[in-house]
Amino acid sequence: MLSNITRALCIASALGLMAGAATAQDPVKIGLILPMTGPFTSTGKQITAAVHLYMQQHGDTVAGRKVEVILRDDAGNPESTKRLAQDLIVNSQASLLAGFGLTPLALVAAPLATQAKVPEIIMAAGTSIITERSPFIVRTSFTVPQSAKVMAEWAAKNNIKTAVTMVTDYAPGHDAESSFTEPYKAAGGQVLAALRVPLQNPDFAPFLQRAADAKPDALFVFVPSGPGAIVMKQYVERGMDKAGIKMIGTGDLTDDDILPGYGDVAVGIITAHFYATAHPSAANQAYVEAFKKGNPGMRPNFMSVGGYDGMHLIYEALKKTGGKTDGTALVDAMKGMRWESPRGPIQIDPETRDIIQNIYIRKVERVNGELQNVEFATFEAVKDPVKAAEKK
Ligand code: PHB
Repeated sequence: MLSNITRALCIASALGLMAGAATAQDPVKIGLILPMTGPFTSTGKQITAAVHLYMQQHGDTVAGRKVEVILRDDAGNPESTKRLAQDLIVNSQASLLAGFGLTPLALVAAPLATQAKVPEIIMAAGTSIITERSPFIVRTSFTVPQSAKVMAEWAAKNNIKTAVTMVTDYAPGHDAESSFTEPYKAAGGQVLAALRVPLQNPDFAPFLQRAADAKPDALFVFVPSGPGAIVMKQYVERGMDKAGIKMIGTGDLTDDDILPGYGDVAVGIITAHFYATAHPSAANQAYVEAFKKGNPGMRPNFMSVGGYDGMHLIYEALKKTGGKTDGTALVDAMKGMRWESPRGPIQIDPETRDIIQNIYIRKVERVNGELQNVEFATFEAVKDPVKAAEKK
């Protein structure tokens, strides 16, 4: 039996040797790792639908190279992500890794991306620190602080004088809590309680009760895409809607994929986020129409655009390198790239490899009978505020 250290060394040297061994005639392989089963399946489904749509629209050949996407299901389990990432690099000779539905899944692959010099394209996860964990990480999704900080600034200016924060107890939730609290307090707001709910099998009821007892003007919520529906159900069960406690949050709470099932109690919820199905641009209207056509019964949410734009980033980088898959050359090609996404104008910050994008303030409304996040204010070209503050 190999010791853990020997095994780690074998994998490390295999990663170094194998990466880049593919020839120009071979397809460019993209290892797409996503939760396709388990509680975060919606993220996996949204992103794969968008990746397929992008390839359908742009073909499966770029810069003379065929592009092959190899989809793997990690079920949201970091151990699986790590194993799958190793296998994709060493055995499948993937030139890029992409996907990463949750922060712990993105983090666990970072050392492998560094060792093998394989770009890791973050299409979903949102903790600020992720891009700092490897020079090969580039993000097309979002940072949670982008939305949380904008929400705080808007709340403080709009007569929300007291708030309770309720976040999922893991890295992006901690980011949400601090990125909301600091600017909110600086603008004169008062946080009456800071509540953290476990990630696994969350029961929000006791936390919502504590929030209700504190009687704030608003409850600020961060939950990752998925459990928002449970929050809503338990919020109504506690009568918090009737008690006049406004619900605000990052747009993960009113995820367009699950929002239609929330019912009228969701009408009026205000959130800050980078994408809404209802974003009123021509590019988005075309995107939503094509997405719905290819995926009956679904509508695209914010995760989907992370996948769609991630494919655009990869295609455009391959064009720039003339089809070469050298990891450093690909990442260099990605730095500073800007384009019009269904969400609006976006850019890859050349210094941080993180996304710069508009953050919109939105209100849930019924539009033609369907619940939608309707944008009514825009904060333009928002950089990740955590990294921006560190640089000062
Ligand atoms: C994350 O784990 O980084 C994450 C996942 C889903 C979200 C937001 C953040 O909606």
